[in-house]
Amino acid sequence: MAKTYDYLFKLLLIGDSGVGKTCLLFRFSEDSFNTTFISTIGIDFKIRTIELDGKRVKLQIWDTAGQERFRTITTAYYRGAMGIMLVYDICNEKSFDNIKNWIRNIEEHASSDVEKMILGNKCDMTDRRQVSKDRGEKLAIDYRVKFLETSAKSSLNVEEVNQRFCTLKTLGGGSGKPVKITDKKSKRIKFFKCSLL
Ligand code: GTP
Ligand code: MG
Repeated sequence: MAKTYDYLFKLLLIGDSGVGKTCLLFRFSEDSFNTTFISTIGIDFKIRTIELDGKRVKLQIWDTAGQERFRTITTAYYRGAMGIMLVYDICNEKSFDNIKNWIRNIEEHASSDVEKMILGNKCDMTDRRQVSKDRGEKLAIDYRVKFLETSAKSSLNVEEVNQRFCTLKTLGGGSGKPVKITDKKSKRIKFFKCSLL
């Protein structure tokens, strides 16, 4: 059977409950948005194939529950991630303060060379903003990670996240080299082992 993509990247969304992780994933995968808050139970994922540098890249994006009671399940998924997006809500100071705790979680449970990016979501809600863009940028500089403000509602920067984050160079599968998928070899690549299925 002909393969439909050249590379497979496994990404993870983490952050406090209610910051908009599921909405960001829905905007990215289905270009839709829902105002109803349905808190994620455990873990879920969506797939989208994008084109990067002329290659077909399949993104498998795992969406984790922000609620504390699911922490054991969700941290089990850190190890296999090639990239982790840390999301906070620009209208919620606490979710921003917690980014440092989420980073600590990554340090404990993810591969040491995992690519990280901080996203300040809900930036359409300017009148309720509690965290300035400068503070977000500064935090990202402190941790030496990429940063973008996004809005799952208005779509702002949602496509840019993946264009900036998912470069073949940065998500090189730990070795610094892109992980190329071939039909026969794909099963052997440790990054794509799925512990749920
Ligand atoms: P958990 O699954 O509990 O971890 O939460 P979550 O981070 O997945 O939050 P979710 O995506 O479900 O969004 C929570 C609420 O915020 C919903 O009511 C969304 O409609 C709203 N929301 C998410 N993103 C945005 C955004 O960019 N702008 C605005 N205005 N609202 C948003
Ligand atoms: Mg969710």
